[in-house]
Amino acid sequence: LPERLLTIAAFAGSLRKDSYNKALLRAAVELAPPDMRIDPLDLSSLPLYNVDLDNDSPPGAVAALRDAIGRADGLLAVTPEHNFSMSAVTKTVIEWASRPADNSVLDGKPVAVMGASTGGFGTARAQVHFRDTAGESGFLAMLDPAIYVSRAQEKFDASGRLAHESTRKAVREFLEAFARWIKKMRA
Ligand SMILES: Cc1cc2nc3c(=O)[nH]c(=O)nc-3n(C[C@H](O)[C@H](O)[C@H](O)COP(=O)(O)O)c2cc1C
Repeated sequence: LPERLLTIAAFAGSLRKDSYNKALLRAAVELAPPDMRIDPLDLSSLPLYNVDLDNDSPPGAVAALRDAIGRADGLLAVTPEHNFSMSAVTKTVIEWASRPADNSVLDGKPVAVMGASTGGFGTARAQVHFRDTAGESGFLAMLDPAIYVSRAQEKFDASGRLAHESTRKAVREFLEAFARWIKKMRA
């Protein structure tokens, strides 16, 4: 029998039109294994986290974000590195999704993180901080394998396609490992 399709909610933590992390997420959508479908979230109207807005009728973008993550088998975060940490966009997604604390859509959710930077360390420091937020929000962070896309300006072509063959292979293998790991976490 064919295995059930794994659905993955995903986001890129950059609002920039020509974002390398948005481009890396598009590559992930394209390179996902046959038993996985990656659905990118639109963060363009997501407000910064604000407790005053976090009531019984939160902004529509917040409700949509929580609903998509809640229904998905896993979450894929594609984060830039800003100031040696994750971007504020990535962090605000975590903040919204982590509340209400007693009923968070992140609780027990398998989560993978990847990222692209123009520097030499490919978001390694941002990813360490990202995974560490699991301690409060209760998600299950895949630690290994990891993927760090350094010097992104050399790896994507002018149309924003991931052109670097060994990185394409790494993304494919990373997503295959994520699929296996989600099944293992369930078992
Ligand atoms: C505020 C700011 C801080 C940054 N800090 C880092 C950093 O700590 N490490 C790094 O490798 N790149 C850093 N960069 C460069 C980013 O890697 C680069 O802007 C990248 O294109 C961001 O991802 P995006 O293309 O998806 O927006 C920084 C960029 C900005 C705007």
